[in-house]
Amino acid sequence: MDGNGRWANQRGLPRAAGHRKGGEAVRRVVDACIARGIPWLTLYAFSTENWGRPPEEVQGLMRMLDRFLKETLPEMIERGVQLRAIGELNMLPESCLNRLKISIEKTKQNKNLILTLALSYGSRQEITRAAQRLAAMAAEGRLNPSDITPDLFASQLDTVGMPDPDLLIRTSGEMRLSNYLLWQLSYAELWVTPVLWPDFGEKELDAALEDYARRHRRYGKR
Ligand code: IPE
Ligand code: MG
Repeated sequence: MDGNGRWANQRGLPRAAGHRKGGEAVRRVVDACIARGIPWLTLYAFSTENWGRPPEEVQGLMRMLDRFLKETLPEMIERGVQLRAIGELNMLPESCLNRLKISIEKTKQNKNLILTLALSYGSRQEITRAAQRLAAMAAEGRLNPSDITPDLFASQLDTVGMPDPDLLIRTSGEMRLSNYLLWQLSYAELWVTPVLWPDFGEKELDAALEDYARRHRRYGKR
């Protein structure tokens, strides 16, 4: 979800205004996914690298996350959204982490849409944590290194139990993955739109889905 800052800049507004609009876009897109029967949506909300932004912006984003989780819990329950989170969640402020745990717990039976927030998420960090766990098991003699398969490796990632993404949508025109789901996106179809995240809505989602529907996925075969 990129382009909140540029959206605000273009209007002479503080970056926080862009992040606020970005939060509204999240709610729109969640509703649009439910309406279209999309079962899984994963949103890159805050990266490991985003901790390096100025403290005022980080604090502002964490306050917004706190408010977002508080305000959206009733909607998630009503709409049948199951909330999950991936990333180094214990880096989050305690109030955010508590709200996150509450929302995850109270929505865990829901089936309409599984909404995963990537928070304090970095793919290299996730892969490194998985490697550390496997190495520890091997060092304890509980795992034979030659038994490590792609599936076993994936079972140690934060996304265990989730299907690999079919489609990656990146807003604001940047042609890069930015440390997002590097393992999981191996065969994802990519869609980059110049639209800034606060302006993203049903029309843009449908454009991405229509393009996706025309693609032939061969997974390296012919
Ligand atoms: C995405 O918008 C929001 C987060 C990373 C939290 P940006 O803040 O990266 O917006 P730009 O890239 O400056 O436009
Ligand atoms: Mg950005």
